[in-house]
Amino acid sequence: MTTVALKDVTKVFRDGTVAVDSINLDVNDGEFMVLLGPSGCGKSTVLRMVAGLEDPTSGAVMLNGELANDLPPRERKIAMVFQDFALYPHMSVNDNIAFPLKLAGVEPTPRGERVTDVASALGIGDVLARRPSQLSGGQRQRVAMGRAIVRRPGLFLMDEPLSNLDSGLRAELRAEISGLTRELGVTTIYVTHDQAEALTMADRVAIMRKGVLQDVGTPTQVYGRPATLYVAAFLGSPRMNLLEASVYVHLDRYVTLTLGEQALYLPWDDIRSRAVAHYHGERIVVGMRAEALTPVAPDTPGDVLQGRIRYLEHHGHESLAFLDIGATAIMVDDIGAPVDADAPPGQRGLRRFGQVMQRITGRANEPTTQATNGSRTSVLHDPGRHHRRPAELAVRLAPYPAVTAGHPLAVQVRMDALHFFDERGDRIDVGWR
Ligand SMILES: Nc1ncnc2c1ncn2[C@@H]1O[C@H](COP(=O)(O)OP(=O)(O)OP(=O)(O)O)[C@@H](O)[C@H]1O
Ligand SMILES: [Mg+2]
Repeated sequence: MTTVALKDVTKVFRDGTVAVDSINLDVNDGEFMVLLGPSGCGKSTVLRMVAGLEDPTSGAVMLNGELANDLPPRERKIAMVFQDFALYPHMSVNDNIAFPLKLAGVEPTPRGERVTDVASALGIGDVLARRPSQLSGGQRQRVAMGRAIVRRPGLFLMDEPLSNLDSGLRAELRAEISGLTRELGVTTIYVTHDQAEALTMADRVAIMRKGVLQDVGTPTQVYGRPATLYVAAFLGSPRMNLLEASVYVHLDRYVTLTLGEQALYLPWDDIRSRAVAHYHGERIVVGMRAEALTPVAPDTPGDVLQGRIRYLEHHGHESLAFLDIGATAIMVDDIGAPVDADAPPGQRGLRRFGQVMQRITGRANEPTTQATNGSRTSVLHDPGRHHRRPAELAVRLAPYPAVTAGHPLAVQVRMDALHFFDERGDRIDVGWR
């Protein structure tokens, strides 16, 4: 079995691109680690350095506790599956899966048995005689996995293996892949930009942005206590509401968080108010997920925000209301927007188009090189990296609610479910995790 450790691993390509920036990451024996981040953040580069297909510019890649920087790929006992895997088209499924065993000199009888075992575990036992062209996309993906796993590797590397498949099949294979790797006890590093995939499959998730590791933890940890504003914004659907708030301390009583014309009060005996109190007279970012907000009658006392519905989105099993509460939202860049829930439906395409045009013309102040200090700039004062705009608070409603756009709506805020970030985008916390 295998452990992986990356120690201050950096990869700078010849053209100066810093693809991976001082990453430290430990993957335990038998662990299913997911590398998550938007396109271009360096996920594949990390994987390729673990596989030995790319040399780190500096730092150490350790396999089983030993320095592996100079170990050739074939000596690393690693199997890899890519998004654009290729099967041998002229060989049957059986021969495709058996091929690595044949190369390794495994005798025909045990070879046959191992192929049958792997194929039945992957649910492709009945198509062993077919050629790849006679298979569905999902079946082909399983064959590629079977071929990778049949050698019983110590380490399994998968780079967006499901991204070519439709969503139903992805969900099905997700469960199968994580089930199979756990059953085999093989250490796995799985790359994806799909947060749902990461949260459902991973033992732990490592979230990257522009070559920098932002947070590592179990799905519950990274979702429930995101270490940075970026992670908070990246995980979850709808996206976490991120509001600019001014902090004012009333000693021994409470801390006021002013959101535009409204305010929330953090009681002084709440342990977090001591940490937030350090920002007295300053602005911070308050994060609230839709699940922290419950629609209530307008005159309900307590931690309630009043708003007006800007627009509604119907998702079948629920509806989302986007409320104007007169506050300012902090928009985080580089999210990669799988769900662009923050633009009104009619403007979505336009906004996306605008972003693309800005990227092409370079007029969005977006750094064109990989920032080495991506999370260090102020999110409240530097308009180039993050922007502020009128908040549209995402609130969950029942499917097809009686309200429509323009209706007033009051929401109760679960104060214990709030997240606080400083102007650099780091979590303001009391230190436990
Ligand atoms: N050979 C190379 N030379 C120069 N730059 C490269 C090279 N390979 C990758 N890059 C750059 O390094 C950065 C990280 O690339 P990488 O392929 O690791 O991203 P990724 O997270 O896997 O993205 P995706 O989700 O799109 O696959 C990108 O900016 C990419 O353009
Ligand atoms: Mg990639």
